[in-house]
Amino acid sequence: MRTHYCTDLNENNIGEIVEVCGWSNNSRDHGGVIFIDLRDKSGLIQLVCDPADSKEAWEIANGVRDEFVLRAKGRVRARGEGLENPKLKTGKIEIVVEELIIENASEPVPFVIGDNSVGEETRLKYRYLDLRNPKAYEVFKLRSKASIAARNLLDSRGFLEVETPILTKSTPEGARDYLVPSRVHNGEFFALPQSPQLFKQLLMCSGFDRYFQIAKCFRDEDLRADRQPEFTQIDIEMSFCTQEDVIEVTEALLKDIFKACGYEISTPFNRIKYKDAMEKYGSDKPDLRYDLSMVDVIDIFERSTNEIFSNIAKDKKNNRIKALKVPNGDNIFSKRQMKGFEDYVRKFGAAGLGYFQMKEDGLKGPLTKFFSEDDLNEIIKVTDLKVGDVVFFGAGAKSTVLDYMGRFRIYLAELMEIIPQDVFEFVWVVDFDMFEVEDGKIKALHHPFTMPKLDNIGGEAKFISKDIDAPIDEMESIAYDIVLNGVELGGGSMRIHKKEIQERVFELLGISEEEANEKFEFLLDALKFGAPPHGGLAMGLDRLIMLLTKSESIRDVIAFPKTQRAQCLLTHAPSPVDNEQLRELGIRLREKKSV
Ligand code: AMO
Repeated sequence: MRTHYCTDLNENNIGEIVEVCGWSNNSRDHGGVIFIDLRDKSGLIQLVCDPADSKEAWEIANGVRDEFVLRAKGRVRARGEGLENPKLKTGKIEIVVEELIIENASEPVPFVIGDNSVGEETRLKYRYLDLRNPKAYEVFKLRSKASIAARNLLDSRGFLEVETPILTKSTPEGARDYLVPSRVHNGEFFALPQSPQLFKQLLMCSGFDRYFQIAKCFRDEDLRADRQPEFTQIDIEMSFCTQEDVIEVTEALLKDIFKACGYEISTPFNRIKYKDAMEKYGSDKPDLRYDLSMVDVIDIFERSTNEIFSNIAKDKKNNRIKALKVPNGDNIFSKRQMKGFEDYVRKFGAAGLGYFQMKEDGLKGPLTKFFSEDDLNEIIKVTDLKVGDVVFFGAGAKSTVLDYMGRFRIYLAELMEIIPQDVFEFVWVVDFDMFEVEDGKIKALHHPFTMPKLDNIGGEAKFISKDIDAPIDEMESIAYDIVLNGVELGGGSMRIHKKEIQERVFELLGISEEEANEKFEFLLDALKFGAPPHGGLAMGLDRLIMLLTKSESIRDVIAFPKTQRAQCLLTHAPSPVDNEQLRELGIRLREKKSV
């Protein structure tokens, strides 16, 4: 129906007869001439309907309202002196309409397309109108380019695209499952996959060697700005590979995706060990676009005359005393702000927040009285203080201190506006711990199919025979995360490919033999029939696009997203179902539980 999209037209087309279609973004009557901004996926162009050129078109234009669907034929001309609109790509030209057709009318729309001051709830309810905004279209164009670039790169590297089931059994990734009742097998349920993890491992057991999928995953978990209950992963798995192979493919993948979206990034990316990331940045996804980092001062504080500190310092395995230097902080922060910082960290379990100011005549602050001159000098040395700097201290249980100091680091960087916005800072976090202990229970830090670093603990035989050379909570795994600007973009690992090791890990995780067989019999079977060494990774496509488009929320890059309360406002899902449907499924509802 068209010869051009609106913004394909420019001054080179002046004099040509063209046909365009789209929606009326707005129309106005100026002294008997009607101007319509016509909008399509590419943007806007101005139509001019003058009765002197076409009485018929002008009469039709008189009836046009916002969001009417139009087709127009006319001649492109330059706009008159002083009438150009520099804000529009097509601002130097307009189309003098000779024929105008209203393809469809529209009732008044609930909001002006592109008006972001409208509440998100309204925009999500009418998401199809929200997406009429050409800016939204650009996001999905980029998303499509990214997926195609990923497919092309993986195809060129010998990866096979395979679809894995959506109706399946629980695939544990640490969240709750979405369940689907079976009609044929009353009382039984499918689970939607939290990831294709186990199926991709099985494909390696089938000898497919290299698999990928742009896979939908489902997790019933607390939502945040970068989480959705239904999201997409670029999921890969390789056989007869090492961690280095997975890292190399992922870097090539990211390079091509970024290139397709107009950015050059350089590889290889930096790497940091999980333990170092936690100790220096208080996070396993450090934002390295800025320089703030923590140093350990527990030995110096052990010698202080303050009993609280010296007691904390006695247990070096479980406690931490960390210093975070803020260059020039003494000149930047007011007294009130310094007080506010303490309130901030208290929200995350801190007992308090000590600080020293570096003045011309040495360290100052309420804590100095507890330290010898030598130790004050030692603090200056290890934190590399210059006049005007401030150094903050967090002391207490390891996980609490690392958590609140890590958050405080980000808080300060945002407050000081030192985070460069046009930088893509990638980092691999490697050598993750195998387990974490939460409320006395051992949990897998990645997932239970991750290969432990057996060399560090005396080898495979010792691990299986339970006679290992290191405490369980110090065991490392061959797991790695790719982090971009402080966001976990993806994660992966080498997998356990031997049944005995897998059984031993289940046992350590407190999964009984019976439960392991009931939940993972198929995997344990597959591992005993010649499973090759294998490993892989999955990257969150939504998060990647969110970062690439500098969107504030993951919802902006998903065509039909759920709200923070895991609802679709457009279709009103989830919703109650008929009693008849429930009866067929053998389900009777109890009273409603509020979450
Ligand atoms: P993981 O659980 O780390 O690993 O997930 C991989 C990546 O998926 C993205 N992601 C999410 N994105 C949006 N909303 C969510 N709720 C959400 N949860 C995860 C993140 C994350 O880094 N099977 C393993 C991968 C592997 O070992 O190969 C897995 O799923 O960007």
